[in-house]
Amino acid sequence: MSVSGPMHGAIGPAASKKDNLDFRRFSELVRVPFELRNYAVLLSLLRMDPAGARADYRLAKQARALGAMQKWRELAPLIGMLRNRRLATVVEIGTARGGTLWLWCRLADPHALIVSIDLDTEAALRAYGGPQQIVRLLSRDSHSAATRQSLVDILERRSIDLLVIDGDHTYEGVKQDFEMYSPLVPDGGLVLFHDIVRPAHLESCRVDVFWGEIKQHHRYYEIKERSGGRGSEQWGGFGVLVQGSPGR
Ligand SMILES: C[S@@+](CC[C@H](N)C(=O)[O-])C[C@H]1O[C@@H](n2cnc3c(N)ncnc32)[C@H](O)[C@@H]1O
Repeated sequence: MSVSGPMHGAIGPAASKKDNLDFRRFSELVRVPFELRNYAVLLSLLRMDPAGARADYRLAKQARALGAMQKWRELAPLIGMLRNRRLATVVEIGTARGGTLWLWCRLADPHALIVSIDLDTEAALRAYGGPQQIVRLLSRDSHSAATRQSLVDILERRSIDLLVIDGDHTYEGVKQDFEMYSPLVPDGGLVLFHDIVRPAHLESCRVDVFWGEIKQHHRYYEIKERSGGRGSEQWGGFGVLVQGSPGR
């Protein structure tokens, strides 16, 4: 796994402070040789902040158990990055079985609004919200103007603190989601892309191409495990983009 930012893979305390992302535990990661990452990195996280790393790991595993289509070795560092950030409004495009929706509910404020947009979402997922959270499910095509308007109505002038784009993985699809919904994320807010690594087995998945373009114009971080594990193919990877921030 690698965690890197735009400046030659370095993540410094200044970036951490500015973006309010918790990189203290990641500053050591970039020094670990690439081939030795994964378990070596996790051990290093455990050594630096045992309780925090264990909590991140537990949440990642629970999300996976609830169907999150994620690698826990990418999900746990992402959780660590987000855990101290105020998330009052989260919008996820692409929810599938709901494992990640459950996770955003756990990471968000107790009074947060969490909205899922998916072509087909089970109503039961509403129960993932905490007692004072509001979970809204839009079972619609994210690319329709009516869906965007429904979201705007639900938001009632709130802005989005975290926008997750994990729906249509074609180049045009991911681009359209970004263009339609990122204007609802204010400067300093986060847009999270999943599958920034080009999968060996899925020709139509071209998030990596759009990510490669858009990251040039923003401050960004990447969490990528190089392979899917022993014997499996490459996929996944998170791109975290800080809205409105200058590029390199
Ligand atoms: C990879 S899955 C999401 C995985 C989920 N975020 C997780 O990590 O467990 C992609 C989802 O996006 C949805 N999807 C694809 N195209 C969409 C579109 N145009 N609008 C809304 N949802 C879409 C699919 O129905 C599918 O459930």
